[in-house]
Amino acid sequence: MTTTSTPPRKRLFIRTWGCQMNVYDSGRMADVLAPIGYAPAETPDGADMVILNTCHIREKATEKLFSELGRLREAKATKRAAGGEMVLAVAGCVAQAEGAEITARAPWVDIVLGPQTYHKLPEMVARASRAAGAVIECDFPAEDKFDHLPDAAAPPGVTAFLTVQEGCDKFCSFCVVPYTRGAEFSRPVAGVLAEARRLVSAGAREISLLGQNVNAYHGEGPDGRSWGLGRLLRALAEIPGLRRLRYTTSHPRDVDDDLIAAHRELPQLMPFLHLPVQSGSDRVLAAMNRGHTADDFLRIADRLREARPDLAFSSDFIAGHPGETTAEFEQTMVLVRRVGFAQAYSFKYSARPGTPAAGAPHQVPEAEKDARLQALQALLRDQQDAFNRSRVGMTFPVLFTGPGRHAGQVAGRTPWLQPLHLSGQLGLVGTEASVTVLAAHPNSLSGLLAAGRDADNVQPAEEPAPA
Ligand code: SAH
Ligand code: SF4
Ligand code: F3S
Repeated sequence: MTTTSTPPRKRLFIRTWGCQMNVYDSGRMADVLAPIGYAPAETPDGADMVILNTCHIREKATEKLFSELGRLREAKATKRAAGGEMVLAVAGCVAQAEGAEITARAPWVDIVLGPQTYHKLPEMVARASRAAGAVIECDFPAEDKFDHLPDAAAPPGVTAFLTVQEGCDKFCSFCVVPYTRGAEFSRPVAGVLAEARRLVSAGAREISLLGQNVNAYHGEGPDGRSWGLGRLLRALAEIPGLRRLRYTTSHPRDVDDDLIAAHRELPQLMPFLHLPVQSGSDRVLAAMNRGHTADDFLRIADRLREARPDLAFSSDFIAGHPGETTAEFEQTMVLVRRVGFAQAYSFKYSARPGTPAAGAPHQVPEAEKDARLQALQALLRDQQDAFNRSRVGMTFPVLFTGPGRHAGQVAGRTPWLQPLHLSGQLGLVGTEASVTVLAAHPNSLSGLLAAGRDADNVQPAEEPAPA
């Protein structure tokens, strides 16, 4: 009697730091490894392969990587003592920037791979099993990795990410991204639309387009011309069943008339925009090489709000860029008060090796950076609380994404990306329904399905029949 046996599933654990593009990339790495038998695992314990997908944006991120590598050295030894092997890979922006340092400081790492080489992972795994030292792939290959990545192995959630653009040519004084992610590159429109259609037919109702400079998008359209982000969003808005669109991260310099018009025209384009400004001082903005003034930013924000009056902003700020004076920092506080942000990320300036600002004179002392950051964060926190409170009593559509934290709850997100929960049925997941907000909590809202909930304001979870 003969028996056929399928090879045992191998367990893959991926740990992700950094931006949403890294989250997207981790999903693609899982997809590319699925055909050779790797299935996602919840913990690194006993895993057959561990990938650390890293971020290089601030100093702490690198140190976190090395302490994690220390722990995994032991896990690897335990696995080997039990007669198994654990393949250990470091991916992402630290891999790209410091591949040599990683293999020198942590020689137990098997694979080091940069963000443009993920489609080669299966081949690298095979090479690693034969190689004596680490397998390193940190080139920016000429071919388009998106052409070589398989379709998603796992179904997306109700909300999904879709990378449309990568890299950056802007070279802000403080930032490593142009070095770790390479030059700006936009995926052709056809590939983006095909991926979006696949996501929607697998259940996604909201898609966030991703790019380090997403509104610098200039992908080749089916007409052979270069399409901007506004045009791409219009084409995506025509996909039946796709209820919500977002994009991140944008640069103020690349907000053009067509993108503003898209905010006016497309109800699917959510009224929430992450638009980093970094500073409110023109001198600091120039030193940062941002290519716009504080006034330019205010004008853009006003025009966007005029196009879409319920639009709310999120932003990024850096406190204590080299040379920033107290008065210049105060101008950031003035800009924040003038715009009013619904949410924001703010960071202490962190010197990154190889960037122009790292070697600039007049580095701001650590204690001063701390004090500025605290003042800024207190103001931004107040604005976020005020924004959340301003939603209480309002009724608007919420997209339900999964079970809430407590039994009997469902969770969703508002048009402004706030988490919201209410007592309700899991049958709501995947639908959009009108909710009246009852209370604002520190990081979320709670509410009640609006009275008269019926087929008018509940969208079916199934893909609608093609028109
Ligand atoms: N492409 C986006 C942001 C990419 S990095 C943009 O142009 O705005 C995300 C955020 O990290 C940045 O907006 C910036 O606020 C912060 N950041 C980047 N480098 C930093 C550094 N060296 N120190 C502190 N914050 C930094
Ligand atoms: Fe970094 Fe500036 Fe490029 Fe944003 S625009 S990724 S901050 S260099
Ligand atoms: Fe970090 Fe790289 Fe993203 S440095 S923020 S993971 S592009």
